[in-house]
Amino acid sequence: MAIRKILELGDPSLRKVCKKQEQFNLRLHILLKDMADTLHKAEGVGLAAPQVGILRRVVIIDLGDEAGVRELINPEIIERSEETQCGREGCLSLPGRQGIVTRPKRVKVRAQDRHGRFFELEGEDLLARAICHELDHLDGVLYIDEMDRELSEEEIEGHVPEDDEQ
Ligand code: CO
Repeated sequence: MAIRKILELGDPSLRKVCKKQEQFNLRLHILLKDMADTLHKAEGVGLAAPQVGILRRVVIIDLGDEAGVRELINPEIIERSEETQCGREGCLSLPGRQGIVTRPKRVKVRAQDRHGRFFELEGEDLLARAICHELDHLDGVLYIDEMDRELSEEEIEGHVPEDDEQ
């Protein structure tokens, strides 16, 4: 089990456009394992490689459901619904902060698995939100760049106006 340090806002790695992952080798598998360990320790739902200082197009998502850890290598969104969702979002690289972000309600993503095989994944609601958030990281984009508004500390504690809820 290897926990990697999660970089925080202000670190230039978070603002870089990441390179394609070309090699599906042991080094990638170690990165994926370390990212999963790091995500679980931090109790997050998603983590992108640049958040641990690796500028490659690799993300993991774990919603705590039976699907377990979803690994997306070189992911691309190929379909997004016109219907949107508006809800709360945070990021392990911006601890203690949350904002309201509008995202597509559904997305379809094409990616490679840890062996380089292509697959498609459709996500709705929280999964769609997580996919959009993590893929943004690969282009140096953070949710604060796109949020409708930032939540106050009080709101983060639980008092969010109803129309902002997902
Ligand atoms: Co994030």
